[in-house]
Amino acid sequence: MSAISVRDVWVEFGDQIVIENLNLDIASGSFVSVVGPSGCGKSTFLRMVLGQDRPTRGSMTLDGKPLPDEPGADRGVVFQRYSVFPHLTVLGNVLSGYEFAQSPLLGKLFGAKRRAAIEKAEELIVAVGLGAHRDKYPSALSGGMQQRLAIAQALAKDPKVLLLDEPFGALDPGTRAQMHALLKPLWARLGMTVIMVTHDLKEAFTLGTRVIAFDKTRHDPQAPGRFGARITYDLDLTRDVAVPVLGFEKRAAE
Ligand SMILES: Nc1ncnc2c1ncn2[C@@H]1O[C@H](COP(=O)(O)OP(=O)(O)O)[C@@H](O)[C@H]1O
Ligand SMILES: [Mg+2]
Repeated sequence: MSAISVRDVWVEFGDQIVIENLNLDIASGSFVSVVGPSGCGKSTFLRMVLGQDRPTRGSMTLDGKPLPDEPGADRGVVFQRYSVFPHLTVLGNVLSGYEFAQSPLLGKLFGAKRRAAIEKAEELIVAVGLGAHRDKYPSALSGGMQQRLAIAQALAKDPKVLLLDEPFGALDPGTRAQMHALLKPLWARLGMTVIMVTHDLKEAFTLGTRVIAFDKTRHDPQAPGRFGARITYDLDLTRDVAVPVLGFEKRAAE
């Protein structure tokens, strides 16, 4: 289980309102794509789910319990770039994910536990297509390979919730398509709840089971920070009714 519930959440930075009165229920195991204009609070929302930021008002729960105030092994995250450790090899980076999950205080595993973690890390490295690059450092990997590594590192924590903040935004279209082909079956197999912010509408609809748009519905030209973003569209792509998708009437699978 990994259902997320957001109740009456407001986010303000000084006199700037970023998010106003957000209410949202995210079902366990769903893949939610979040779209919206730049600066409307998408990353802020992800950081709140991660436990890095807190709402100014309102509450958020994970499986009915208040979200812990700090990032934990139950929530993994992949940013647009630079989330891998440059001083560790591919294996070292993925292993660090296991070490963080199993030994958060020491950050190290020893003996049989370490051997088991290495075996699992190697499996994951193969699963993301980096089998031939196990001992390389990130500087020797392309952008797409570094993002595969970042995903493997996040998955090593065996998170209940995977948060992706424009993870493929810096990749060329071919590599991006490869990442989609990688991510969708991994998500289906591991049964995590995924929240992915993206600028790319096609990506949002291809990967998501639900697409949510954030935007401001009111503007005050004299005070740009006076109103925050709300949810302006919320499309469930799994329900068994006609859903308008980019101008087409698409019938969801029976
Ligand atoms: N720590 C912070 N302090 C002050 N303002 C912030 C902070 N974090 C985000 N903001 C502001 O909140 C707004 C939303 O930012 P962000 O969540 O990064 O938007 P998005 O990811 O949708 O582009 C922006 O105007 C940004 O400047
Ligand atoms: Mg952002």
